[in-house]
Amino acid sequence: MNNSASPPLTLRDKFGRPMRDLRISVMDKCNFRCPYCMPAEIFGADYDFLPNHQLLSDDELIRLAHLFAELGVTKLRITGGEPLIRPNLEKIIAAWAEIPTIDDIAMTTNGYFLKPVVQRLKDAGLHRITVSLDSLDETVFSTMNGAKSSVSRVLEAIEASQAAGFDNMKVNCVVKRGVNDHTIVDLARYFKSRNVIVRYIEYMDVGNLNGWRLDDVVTAEDIFKRIDAELPLEPVPPNYRGEVANRYRYLDGENEIGIVASVTKPFCGDCTRVRLSAAGEYYTCLFGTNQLDLRTPLRDGTSDQGLKEIIAGVWSQRVDRYSELRTSFTRLPRKGAEMYRLGG
Ligand code: GTP
Ligand code: 5AD
Ligand code: SF4
Ligand code: SF4
Repeated sequence: MNNSASPPLTLRDKFGRPMRDLRISVMDKCNFRCPYCMPAEIFGADYDFLPNHQLLSDDELIRLAHLFAELGVTKLRITGGEPLIRPNLEKIIAAWAEIPTIDDIAMTTNGYFLKPVVQRLKDAGLHRITVSLDSLDETVFSTMNGAKSSVSRVLEAIEASQAAGFDNMKVNCVVKRGVNDHTIVDLARYFKSRNVIVRYIEYMDVGNLNGWRLDDVVTAEDIFKRIDAELPLEPVPPNYRGEVANRYRYLDGENEIGIVASVTKPFCGDCTRVRLSAAGEYYTCLFGTNQLDLRTPLRDGTSDQGLKEIIAGVWSQRVDRYSELRTSFTRLPRKGAEMYRLGG
């Protein structure tokens, strides 16, 4: 390995896209069994999740975030599985918060373990939290998460987060036809006056285990129409180039929603996202079939410069645009990574 060369000043992939957002899965396990992510019949009690020594250690996670930041990453999103199952998460966040060029640290969680730790997360330097909540109806919610929690528990976690100073809360709602789509307007109405932005996500064909069918997808257009009919909306420009969700503001000026149209209106053209699995695999696309193992070089004495060269080399060859290609093929034949390994 040649350790002397410097990384390029502005690292770009083959389509000119810089590397900006690093999504780090800190834990492959989850206490929920959402059928669209970890169906209980596959992820049973004896399912082989990663043993601890195969997960990146705290120090490895901290070191990698520094290296990615030196290559241009300014935003970290903590995902899972369920990130709050990871021991020492506050300590890791505190170390990430000290990286001068990282200006945003966000976390996506199912909210189950959130309430008792949220103040400590805030104090450690976490900026934003997105909580997954697919319906306010207990029965529907239960179907969507594999009967592992209650709506009230998640709502309490959201309130506790706001009380701890997170005044920019978001809720993710995956919309599945015939399962929770009749409850999306209720969800919008509830959070409209509570300063929480709901983001509706088109059900995606990520992974190979959820039996995805195009018929299960409620399109972004349809989601918009159903909410707009009862709570009128207007489009708003993105907060930043490449924002995943399309934004819509309520006409009365109170709050906004987002719709993630990755199936019907793919947004690969501006995709600056890179992902790390809990085992240290580096993916340049959520639907990636090629991952690169970073854990081995991390553990075999490779220098920081050497690691950066590996990371930069892969990014500079990147041509991923899975969602755009899928649009023309309905579903591409491939064996990609599972959602629980990449955290969305
Ligand atoms: P903000 O930083 O708040 O704008 O959030 P974000 O865009 O990082 O949001 P979040 O992680 O909540 O993403 C919402 C959902 O969009 C994810 O859970 C995924 O389901 C989906 N998503 C996020 N990134 C991508 C992506 O690169 N490709 C595709 N196809 N879907 C994505
Ligand atoms: N399609 C769309 N969104 C999904 N998520 C998990 N699996 C899917 C899927 N197949 C969402 C979760 C969570 C985020 C991490 O990704 O609901 O909000
Ligand atoms: Fe767990 Fe999130 Fe997957 Fe549901 S979507 S099983 S909460 S990781
Ligand atoms: Fe980025 Fe891949 Fe998602 Fe397209 S499909 S937006 S390239 S992660």
